[in-house]
Amino acid sequence: MKNILVTGGAGFIGSAFARSMTRRYPDYNIIVYDKLTYAGNLDNLLPISDDENYRFEQGDIADRAALRRALEAHHIDTIVNFAAESHVDRSILSADAFIHTDVVGVYILLDEGRQHGLERFLHVSTDEVYGDVDEGYSVETDVFAPNSPYAASKAGGELMVRSYHVTHGMNTVISRGSNTFGPYQYPEKLLPFFITEALEDHPLPVYGDGMQIRDWLYVEDHVSGIDAVLHKGVSGEAYNIAGEDLHHNIDVTHRLLALLGKDDSLIRHVPDREGHDRRYAMNCDKLRALGWQRQYSFDSALEATVDWYRDNEWWWRKIKTGEYLEFYKRQYGARLAAAE
Ligand code: NAD
Ligand code: TYD
Repeated sequence: MKNILVTGGAGFIGSAFARSMTRRYPDYNIIVYDKLTYAGNLDNLLPISDDENYRFEQGDIADRAALRRALEAHHIDTIVNFAAESHVDRSILSADAFIHTDVVGVYILLDEGRQHGLERFLHVSTDEVYGDVDEGYSVETDVFAPNSPYAASKAGGELMVRSYHVTHGMNTVISRGSNTFGPYQYPEKLLPFFITEALEDHPLPVYGDGMQIRDWLYVEDHVSGIDAVLHKGVSGEAYNIAGEDLHHNIDVTHRLLALLGKDDSLIRHVPDREGHDRRYAMNCDKLRALGWQRQYSFDSALEATVDWYRDNEWWWRKIKTGEYLEFYKRQYGARLAAAE
């Protein structure tokens, strides 16, 4: 492993991975390949922009010719795929881009990677492929039951990875992360959205009763989990990466308001997300057996995250314009009006 193509590396988790790998493995060349959709942001890569072992290429994973050029130009031997449409609410508004990237894009990455003679392919997936987990904890062999178009597109991508391993003998591994948070996360996901909205004293739209449960994982722990799977995972296998820190959305909201010194009166209970999964929870014994363990508690990581958004308005203020405001209006306009 020497020349790694980090697809989707200008997004939230991919950029954290690229920043970490560039510094942690000076012998590796890290080439970020990203389409720069609304969620891709070169500001996320500024800390490593002058590093000698880092390069950036703009491109779509579903564009065969561009992908092939990048694989050849950089003598790529490994792909770590973060590229995806990643927001459930957007997949409810329209699933087109999700099928393009999370299903067709993954297929083209696999197909070009195989023809190129790739040594290793790591595909980043999600706990959402398991669907709603009423009780207990999902293990890697559980049957998929995705409920949102996003989750279904990620499940479809995973099945293509499986087929290229079984049929073509490709060396593949899959990681399934739980709800991730931390610096540089696009402010549409719950935590960065609520933190930045609360900083502006805007209302916080909690879907339904707010009693849904998510398993929160700090981005640095997600990245170290992917590193472990990349280097030690068995070909053909999938590994859960979980924070094992389960919280109700409403409790998370109260906590972040307290950290910001803001009042609970900002909370609005709005009409629920369609098809909303109540609970996600994963067992990650299989990953622990590779030597991984979580380094950050939810409380300390939440505090660090709140501080980061408070200190880095330059990063999120320029995002919350244009397309972002259009999405906000479509997603929350009627909901917030219904809650008044
Ligand atoms: P993100 O939305 O912040 O970033 C996605 C990146 O992919 C962006 O930089 C975007 O420009 C790029 N991209 C999109 N379509 C592309 C295409 N066709 N070709 C090339 N690049 C493209 O997402 P994220 O939160 O960093 O998630 C990264 C991966 O981790 C995704 O695969 C997601 O499904 C998975 N995941 C996310 C979470 C989470 O809580 N955020 C949890 C588990 C798994
Ligand atoms: P999100 O960050 O969209 O992640 P996911 O849907 O992939 O779990 O949402 C996390 C939880 O927060 C989820 O139960 C939906 C809820 N949520 C709200 O209540 N209001 C919001 O405005 C958002 C974005 C999410």
